[in-house]
Amino acid sequence: IKNMKGRDMITLLDYSVEEIEALLDYAIEIKALTKAGDCPQVLKGKSLGMMFEKKSTRTRVSFEVGMLQLGGHVVHLNPNEMQLSRGEGVKDTAATLSEYLDGIMIRANSNADVMELAKHASIPIINGLTDIYHPCQALADLLTVIEVKGSVKGLKLCYVGDGNNVSHSLAAAGVAMGMEVYMACPIGYLPDEKIIAKIKEMGKESGGKVFITQDPKEAAVNADVIYTDVWTSMGFEEEAEARIGAFADYQVNKELVSYAKDDYMFMHCLPAHREEEVTAEVIDGPNSYVYHEAGNRLHAQKAVLAALL
Ligand code: CP
Ligand code: NVA
Repeated sequence: IKNMKGRDMITLLDYSVEEIEALLDYAIEIKALTKAGDCPQVLKGKSLGMMFEKKSTRTRVSFEVGMLQLGGHVVHLNPNEMQLSRGEGVKDTAATLSEYLDGIMIRANSNADVMELAKHASIPIINGLTDIYHPCQALADLLTVIEVKGSVKGLKLCYVGDGNNVSHSLAAAGVAMGMEVYMACPIGYLPDEKIIAKIKEMGKESGGKVFITQDPKEAAVNADVIYTDVWTSMGFEEEAEARIGAFADYQVNKELVSYAKDDYMFMHCLPAHREEEVTAEVIDGPNSYVYHEAGNRLHAQKAVLAALL
């Protein structure tokens, strides 16, 4: 894969439609090679630093195993154990780490902090989730839809719930791949207007579209994919009660999925809260692809790591 070496991946909006397609094609290729026991050893001797300001199960393990499979390894950078926690600045930290490492994956509270790190680092910075983006998740999601549906251009993707980090990146990836993305979000929890405007720009090139509605049924009608995420993301715990009220009509349940195509896919980035954003009947049912999707984090991220590092 060409021309991505040294780039950051903070948001998919920094990538062209063509580049997102190329990363997904590369992920398919790397997955096939991995399954054949022949994952390309392109990161031999390379080191990825991993920094988490929030909890993680999938991101942590899939990045670590992904680096191992590519022949490289990871260094855990616990912010509390670093001089950062004693007031060393981002500039000195980023410049120093750039002397040792070949890339950094960071899960941070604030996307602005990740941009600040990227500004001072001379190595690729990969976003493992911030308040507004989760690009690696979205690449794994699209990889999953492509595997199940074949061609995805023109398919309808319905996202129901919070206009959050996951929804922004999912809409960007879906539109880049030419999908029609319907986002059903309550007032007060809408996706970011500026991000949606950029996604619409991207759609001019790919033919993809994004629509926002307050009606989950409108979004679910004839959908090929129904996607949801938690109502209370990490960092918003004190709003949890208010959110349960605001999202009451946005649960993905048997009734809502009855509007979708018979062979619809149910997707969720996980972790999930059964009987809140989705009923057990749906997430544990025959149309659910959530573990396949979680598994694809590994392969989508290997494509990103191999391309950028
Ligand atoms: N979907 C996802 O990013 O999961 P983790 O929070 O477990 O990494
Ligand atoms: N929107 C969720 C995703 C977790 C992977 C959060 O930010 O907590």
